[in-house]
Amino acid sequence: MSRKKVFVVLLAVSSVSLLLHQRGHFIWPLKAFHQYYTPLPSYPSPTLKPKHTSIAFLKTHKTASSTVQNLLFRFAERHNLTVALPYQACDHQFCYPHPFSTRFVHPHTMPPHIITNHMRFNLSELRRLMPKDTVYITILREPASMFESLFSYYNQYCQSFSRVPKGSLETFLANPGRYYRRDEKYSMYAHNTLTFDLGGDKDRPSSDLNYTSRFIEAIERVFSLVMISEYFDESLVLLRHLLSWDLEDVLYVKLNMRASGSRRNLSSELPAKIRAWNALDARLYDHFNASLWRRLDALGPESVAREVGLLQAARDRAVRGCFGGTLPPVRHATQIKNKELRPWQPSSKVDIVGYDLPPNASRPVVGAGGPSQDVCLKLITPEVQYTHLLLRSQSQRFRKNYALRFPPVCSPRLRCLSPPPPSQNSSYTTHSPPPPAVTLSPASKGKPHPSPKQPS
Ligand SMILES: *[C@@H]1O[C@H](CO)[C@@H](O)[C@H](O)[C@H]1NC(C)=O
Ligand SMILES: *[C@@H]1O[C@H](CO)[C@@H](O)[C@H](O)[C@H]1NC(C)=O
Ligand SMILES: *[C@@H]1O[C@H](CO)[C@@H](O)[C@H](O)[C@H]1NC(C)=O
Ligand SMILES: *[C@@H]1O[C@H](CO)[C@@H](O)[C@H](O)[C@H]1NC(C)=O
Ligand SMILES: *[C@@H]1O[C@H](CO)[C@@H](O)[C@H](O)[C@H]1NC(C)=O
Ligand SMILES: *[C@@H]1O[C@H](CO)[C@@H](O)[C@H](O)[C@H]1NC(C)=O
Ligand SMILES: *[C@@H]1O[C@H](CO)[C@@H](O)[C@H](O)[C@H]1NC(C)=O
Repeated sequence: MSRKKVFVVLLAVSSVSLLLHQRGHFIWPLKAFHQYYTPLPSYPSPTLKPKHTSIAFLKTHKTASSTVQNLLFRFAERHNLTVALPYQACDHQFCYPHPFSTRFVHPHTMPPHIITNHMRFNLSELRRLMPKDTVYITILREPASMFESLFSYYNQYCQSFSRVPKGSLETFLANPGRYYRRDEKYSMYAHNTLTFDLGGDKDRPSSDLNYTSRFIEAIERVFSLVMISEYFDESLVLLRHLLSWDLEDVLYVKLNMRASGSRRNLSSELPAKIRAWNALDARLYDHFNASLWRRLDALGPESVAREVGLLQAARDRAVRGCFGGTLPPVRHATQIKNKELRPWQPSSKVDIVGYDLPPNASRPVVGAGGPSQDVCLKLITPEVQYTHLLLRSQSQRFRKNYALRFPPVCSPRLRCLSPPPPSQNSSYTTHSPPPPAVTLSPASKGKPHPSPKQPS
């Protein structure tokens, strides 16, 4: 703790999709874009097949999954799709670390097309909720860098970490069994987190090779794509092919970075120790990294490189349109004026930075119409705030549709009788049994974003 290393993680990861195309319905006023941005070539043209819109994205921890979530949120908004969101009592995640249950889903967000907030995977429950043609997707990150990130980020929540003298990763790894307690509340951040998020047994001995193989096979059967953080753009190329999406649909601006100099360099023997301690995750990662590259090879390296190039060019254009060239400067949360853009802080030891929208952002740039302020805001809106925004808008839509389905019954001599509408005063109602009482956020009483879960 004496180390004055400021560990900076940026969580606003997001993107903007700036191009208008013929299909679909748009909530954002994108007319201006059309004038400003030359349409990108969609390559290869996916237009023959309709876009796939039923998606379950298992959001893993500290894996850049927030970038994917933000992309899916924006896709849903543009195409008028419903995103399943958690009940208030579950916070912005589906009562993680409880295994997912349909009871955790807010009734105003059903039936959904897309689900992406944090959860612990439970396939049979998801099948009860999601359309039959749902495509399952997730993302994994290289275990050593992921563990270093978890160790820093959840240092105060996870007792397996907090009881380590001087918060030293080296000390923990020298003898993990001394600090790790499998049944403690946040133990899943300290051991095989990916396996846990995917519904597996994080504490299964790594010598049980049969378990690992069966687990990997099960995941392979269910998930159509396992993205890899280290090869994010390449993963997006595969995602786009899988879903028949346009190039515009996978645009993002990755803002997620640590300040230079605060990056933790792992000394040479640590990665091996981390992999040994998280052996299940390491096997999972190696397996799916290999599958990813087999699929990229099948697509052809030139073709992949070309599509990655188009994606990056489109991203640069998006940033130019919103911020006039470069991204706004990184700020500490307390300095960010717009509360909607203030990232949540896990502890005083971890400094999470974000972006403020510059005052002139989204004004017309070179004469023509630039992107709207709303689009630029969503580009840098952190996950918690975006979840709230979506819940609000979907609840409004739900109430409107409810009123249409149950119009007031009127007669000339009687007053109109209408069925009791859903609760008007908040987004939350109690139409289905509430989720179990969970208190997952010990250190956050009364704070606006009371959870340790954050984008990675
Ligand atoms: C969005 O979907 C709702 C029904 O879920 C429909 O009433 C509304 O007209 C749609 N809006 C657009 C712009 O397509
Ligand atoms: C997943 O959900 C099913 C019910 O759909 C339940 O029987 C099962 O116990 C759940 N799995 C876990 C690990 O909780
Ligand atoms: C593992 O699988 C092999 C072959 O499938 C089998 O012979 C062996 O008994 C299994 N081991 C355990 C511990 O289940
Ligand atoms: C980490 O390693 C890189 C390259 O090896 C070096 O440039 C950087 O300064 C190192 N960072 C720290 C904080 O030691
Ligand atoms: C992922 O797989 C590729 C191809 O096998 C390999 O070159 C690369 O080193 C792997 N990446 C990691 C981080 O293990
Ligand atoms: C906003 O103002 C800054 C400095 O005044 C300028 O560099 C930037 O290009 C402007 N952005 C836009 C979108 O006009
Ligand atoms: C909403 O209404 C319920 C009952 O009418 C009340 O208990 C609750 O405090 C209200 N919530 C808000 C946010 O006003």
